[in-house]
Amino acid sequence: MKKGIIILGSSNSFGNTHKIVSYIAEKTNYPIIDLKTKHIAEFDYNFNNKDDDFLPIIRDIADNYNLIIFATPVYWYAMSGILKTFFDRISDCLKIEKDTGRKLRGKNMAVISCGSDDILKAGFHMPFIESAKYLGMTYTSDVHSWIENENIPETVKQKLDNFVTTIL
Ligand SMILES: Cc1cc2nc3c(=O)[nH]c(=O)nc-3n(C[C@H](O)[C@H](O)[C@H](O)COP(=O)(O)O)c2cc1C
Repeated sequence: MKKGIIILGSSNSFGNTHKIVSYIAEKTNYPIIDLKTKHIAEFDYNFNNKDDDFLPIIRDIADNYNLIIFATPVYWYAMSGILKTFFDRISDCLKIEKDTGRKLRGKNMAVISCGSDDILKAGFHMPFIESAKYLGMTYTSDVHSWIENENIPETVKQKLDNFVTTIL
């Protein structure tokens, strides 16, 4: 079984995406890192922010997990800004943290999205797929979800259950 970790990139720690990742965490026992509670600054060419929360998090992931699940709400047809900042900071691993960057090779990546629409526009997954490729990771799967009347609809639960079978 893969040892996975869920990176939650919502602007609402207890919003809709959180509902979805809680369902997945219950099925998999994977821990959740809530980026909203972390101090992760935007990418800086001079790495003046190297003492914020990013490097300890990515080191922990690199050392202890072989599957990273990125969970994001759909904000303006794309991943959330919080998650994009996290991706931008992975560039630190190509410059000042190369050992950690190398450890990402061979790991698996999966994506959970949560929108108000039941479909995603074409291209939503491209940045994940291409980043995985660039980092030498394997993009395993993705699932799109939504919430209705504060709850996870049965159709979505079915999709999430299928998704879980692709990552275990
Ligand atoms: C800034 C913003 C932009 C959004 N853009 C989209 C969008 O492009 N497509 C979509 O389906 N839903 C969009 N939504 C709706 C959210 O994706 C949806 O409500 C989601 O469940 C919110 O998850 P959260 O509670 O984790 O933030 C947007 C919501 C916000 C706040």
